[in-house]
Amino acid sequence: MAFRAPISQLTKRASQSTISRLTAPSPLWQRSSANQLRSFATPVPPVTQDATSSKGPTAVVFMNMGGPSTTDEVGDFLSRLFADGDLIPLGRLQNYLGPLISKRRTPKIIKQYAAIGGGSPIRKWSEYQASEMCKILDKISPETAPHKPYVAFRYANPLTEEMYNRLLEDGFGGGKGGRAVAFTQYPQYSCSTTGSSLNELWKWRQRLEGKAPDNVVGGGNDGTISWSVIDRWPVHPGLVDAIALNIEDQLATFPEDVRDDVVLLFSAHSLPMSVVNRGDPYPAEVAATVHAVMQRLGHSHPYRLVWQSQVGPSAWLGAQTSDAVSEYIKKGQKNMILIPVAFTSDHIETLYELDEEVIGESGHRDTIKRSESLNGHPVFIQALADIAKAHLDSGETCSKQMGLRCPGCKSERCAESKKFFAGQGPGMTFAV
Ligand code: FES
Repeated sequence: MAFRAPISQLTKRASQSTISRLTAPSPLWQRSSANQLRSFATPVPPVTQDATSSKGPTAVVFMNMGGPSTTDEVGDFLSRLFADGDLIPLGRLQNYLGPLISKRRTPKIIKQYAAIGGGSPIRKWSEYQASEMCKILDKISPETAPHKPYVAFRYANPLTEEMYNRLLEDGFGGGKGGRAVAFTQYPQYSCSTTGSSLNELWKWRQRLEGKAPDNVVGGGNDGTISWSVIDRWPVHPGLVDAIALNIEDQLATFPEDVRDDVVLLFSAHSLPMSVVNRGDPYPAEVAATVHAVMQRLGHSHPYRLVWQSQVGPSAWLGAQTSDAVSEYIKKGQKNMILIPVAFTSDHIETLYELDEEVIGESGHRDTIKRSESLNGHPVFIQALADIAKAHLDSGETCSKQMGLRCPGCKSERCAESKKFFAGQGPGMTFAV
């Protein structure tokens, strides 16, 4: 069964409640237009590197984990996911345990995707966000226009290999050079998520464009694609404002006499403690987002950051979202808002795990609610464009932070991929 909800319906909730706020003069990252919501991802014709403006065209590649668009794709999605040692480290047993776990989980996960409409909306949202962002970029950064949107998922179609081949077909690389920006759609950096996507991008870059010389950062010589990376943006004011606006919309649905007592539960995907203890930056960056949102809200409500989607028996970062909700209910706290804080669109973790399992099974559907995912929120789309514009203007290949490997990193893949994208920065010579 295919995912059926059209984008116009999906954007409705986000746009209805916030568009009125956008009519007043506002800072750059808040500016938007209802027109941005009306048209969806129109195909852009192939471009050639000698086409238009001085520095364009520019490919902007949205990287994310992805999700199966139909239930038929669930098996392949899970087998790729459990084969990825960057995301789910199973050590030397990865090749044996990965397929075993994915096969066992497939029937259960198919049912979950069937329950949310037959597939994940993440591809539709990602294509919409990338396309709308590029339209804004064409206006605010004409010197790097035209901007051409691409999506590369780590575990679902369109995979990184497919995206890279499309780039080459569209006239990037292949002797013509050209610029591409890898724009992570995980606002907070983890080696399990953005790191894994970059390792995959580096792998396909080497396979399809050849090995880059050691002294070249991001490629770009000999007519190959010149890559730069937007690797994190946990406290961008547009991101923070879009999350805060969605919380305020949800708070407004509570009766006035209890509104001030609502507890805000920010929920992010958890990590195995082995990854946390390796020195992964994700927990600190998620906490930074939460703190920035609470500052934007004037610390109006009590809050906690909790973690969801633990898999398997090993230790994961907690408290778990489901446990937190049931424990607060036992303590008499029944007014809560769950806030997805680490993903940029709806996916199974919001539509099924939070809505159906955590809230649905709590017995308090009326008083435990979830704030809207960012999806097509115009403030969020504008934020994406502003982040990309600042990156293009900066001339940087990536953030300073990306060059530093985790203190406990022993992965040669990380070392090589970071050397390509970040150069020989601090920590790069750490023994592998
Ligand atoms: Fe973090 Fe390799 S695991 S840099």
